Amino acid sequence: MNVYDSDRMQDLMLACGYQLTDTPDGADMVIINTCHIREKASEKLFSDLGRLRPFKQQKQQQGSEMIVAVAGCVAQAEGEEIFKRSPVVDIVVGPESYQTLPDLVGKVQREKKKQLNLNFSPNQKFDSLTLLSQKTGQTSAFISVQEGCDKFCTFCVVPYTRGAEYSRSVNQVLDEVKKLVDGGSQEIYLLGQNVNAYHGLNPDGSVCSLASLIDKIAQIDAVKRIRYTTSHPKDMLDDLIEAHGGIAKLMPFLHLPVQSGSNAVLKMMNRKHTRQDYFKIIEKLKKACPTIGLSSDFIVGFPGETEEDFLQTIDLVKQVKFTQCYSFKYSPRPGTPASELLNQIPEKIKEERLQILQTLLNEQQLEFNQQFQDKTVNVLFEKTAPKSQKQQPNTQIWGKSEWLQSVVVELENQQPPESYFNKILPVKIVKARPSSLIGKLL
Ligand code: 5AD
Ligand code: SF4
Repeated sequence: MNVYDSDRMQDLMLACGYQLTDTPDGADMVIINTCHIREKASEKLFSDLGRLRPFKQQKQQQGSEMIVAVAGCVAQAEGEEIFKRSPVVDIVVGPESYQTLPDLVGKVQREKKKQLNLNFSPNQKFDSLTLLSQKTGQTSAFISVQEGCDKFCTFCVVPYTRGAEYSRSVNQVLDEVKKLVDGGSQEIYLLGQNVNAYHGLNPDGSVCSLASLIDKIAQIDAVKRIRYTTSHPKDMLDDLIEAHGGIAKLMPFLHLPVQSGSNAVLKMMNRKHTRQDYFKIIEKLKKACPTIGLSSDFIVGFPGETEEDFLQTIDLVKQVKFTQCYSFKYSPRPGTPASELLNQIPEKIKEERLQILQTLLNEQQLEFNQQFQDKTVNVLFEKTAPKSQKQQPNTQIWGKSEWLQSVVVELENQQPPESYFNKILPVKIVKARPSSLIGKLL
């Protein structure tokens, strides 16, 4: 979602006559777009700002100016504090008000005063955005369709930094999708902190669910693949589950964070679902789409998590069998209810639990990948494989399977790698690795 937001900020500044540069050296403006979900997000921001200082001073010595803006969720969370801790910053703007960046830049230049805007105005934001910098031909394109969260899991900062749930209108989404595919995109990735809580309005004022939005997007011929992330179990309703069986362009893969396998921990997390609810959803999904690949987020060492609770998580993983997951040690985030709980878990125990969980998840990922040995999968090719950059010429191409696996193919002919990009091609898998598949073009 931050990639999407950064692209939109680029659009706004390009429209004001700015150009992109890949170095802060000599830049007229630097925007740091921040994410608050990771640990130590604000420390990272302030060390980045420290590194910008000499560039800003150099610019001043040359008689001109470098405007520094901090955007994103850390900006929202820290607000005025950022100006106090780092004098290099001119603008602090939140993730739901960055459409005002050009105005804020103008004010800094005219009034020589620092500017702050932390309003929650997703409606105005999306109404005033354009898609200028969306690189045409970007094989897989992101589009934010939903933002914010009303769930208030006790460990999470998102409801405070992104605000209440908001869904873009169906027409706005369809227009943007059409622009993306006109530019050559093949895969549309629908984004939202709670994407499956999507409830945008149809032109007639009726409410559209995510399942029916996906259905409308699937009817656009040039769209070849559709994905969405991130979903909450509570909003995994039957029409969306059915869509995985009924809409061929919807990929057989779902990222559905469960966080913990213990009902006691889920309750303390205020997750609003039980492990039984999760099992039920998975059962229905597998019925609707037997080949579905499942992914999740896990937090170990939530305050008060006992050994028994942790074993319930391990048991859930063994029962569901995931294809690729993200797992984290719980870390207290200022301002969230869980950070004030007294029964925090010692670091050593968190580390041990994470290690055990990740070993199991890695085994499951390898097992999943091994099922593809000697099988044929359809791969959407995007670029040359990063690993082979040292090789001259680069003859390895990289793409994604329907299950979001990375697939690497060594070209055996003289065709330029670019001629394979943006195409879905059948690939025979010759080797399964823990986090990628190696194949041959058929
Ligand atoms: N500690 C550890 N992990 C967290 N996440 C969110 N907040 C925290 C926290 N305080 C993880 C959750 C979420 C993912 C995006 O980040 O697993 O699903
Ligand atoms: Fe955070 Fe929970 Fe909302 Fe996800 S559902 S964004 S984890 S509060």
